[in-house]
Amino acid sequence: MKIAFVGKGGSGKTTLSSLFIRHLATTGAPVVAVDADINQHLGPALGLDEADAAGLPAMGERLPLIKDYLRGSNPRIASAETMIKTTPPGEGSRLLRVREDNPVYEACARAVELDGGAVRLMVTGPFTEADLGVACYHSKTGAVELCLNHLVDGQSEYVVVDMTAGSDSFASGMFTRFDITFLVAEPTRKGVSVYRQYKEYARDFGVTLKVVGNKVQGQDDIDFLRAEVGDDLLVTVGHSDWVRAMEKGRPPLFERLEDTNRQALRALQTAADATYELRDWERYMRQMVHFHLKNARSWGNERTGADLASQVDPSFVLREAEPVTA
Ligand SMILES: Nc1ncnc2c1ncn2[C@@H]1O[C@H](COP(=O)(O)OP(=O)(O)O)[C@@H](O)[C@H]1O
Ligand SMILES: [Mg+2]
Repeated sequence: MKIAFVGKGGSGKTTLSSLFIRHLATTGAPVVAVDADINQHLGPALGLDEADAAGLPAMGERLPLIKDYLRGSNPRIASAETMIKTTPPGEGSRLLRVREDNPVYEACARAVELDGGAVRLMVTGPFTEADLGVACYHSKTGAVELCLNHLVDGQSEYVVVDMTAGSDSFASGMFTRFDITFLVAEPTRKGVSVYRQYKEYARDFGVTLKVVGNKVQGQDDIDFLRAEVGDDLLVTVGHSDWVRAMEKGRPPLFERLEDTNRQALRALQTAADATYELRDWERYMRQMVHFHLKNARSWGNERTGADLASQVDPSFVLREAEPVTA
């Protein structure tokens, strides 16, 4: 299951994604955590100290390796240089699975021990001033988009991405890559304005979007969110002393997390799991191709000097491996 946390900066994306990741880890499910946020804080939120977080390998710096591995022997992709973030897989491409070991994880993922179990953590790497201009910013999250487009994930396996709700994810198609998107919103006008913008883009692409209210202090806050986002409001989270203690560098055991917050995390998992039956790999491929052609036309063809439309393998559809029966 591919799950995104989006929202405005400071809303609590990193906090809630890290809590959700910790929750999933306690269930024993395999989890890949991905930090694609402009402010790279997921590692520390999962308990890494500063030195360990700074030492994480950056996906953005390993794009050539990622591209070379994923393109495999796909004859439609002549070289890693002509592979852009939206280049879809086809016959001969290598696919990624949540549970396996592969060269991409070896280069870009690190195991993080949580008190419930270990997860894999991948990070795009820190964003610089230059990244916030259009093209290069794309290359950082582009590594994530490529991986998502080559991933065949099954039920009860989770990829959780902490990311911004920026216009970049709309241009690239990144926002359509998830089974469910949790939009973290504080009960403020700014918080819900990000929701409206996201909803607008999401509507045309059948994106499943749910709002997670955060820093909610009382009924008035809940009423406000309900009035603004209606049934899209899935659950609300209040101030957490557990989170505050963790931020002081004294992480309590995860089982000490407040009951109401634990229930909220269960509700997120239930909502995510329920999307499994809405999965449509053919639609997933169609959208991938749609955004690839759009990116090819608007900058990719010119940048690479190739006709990137020819990378599309018209008969290829991602699908989960058949379950192994004894
Ligand atoms: N439910 C919460 N309880 C206590 N502190 C919170 C909560 N949600 C967020 N915070 C705090 O708010 C700040 C911003 O949260 P963060 O997750 O980093 O936001 P984002 O990733 O959206 O920029 C952090 O200091 C975080 O600890
Ligand atoms: Mg963050």
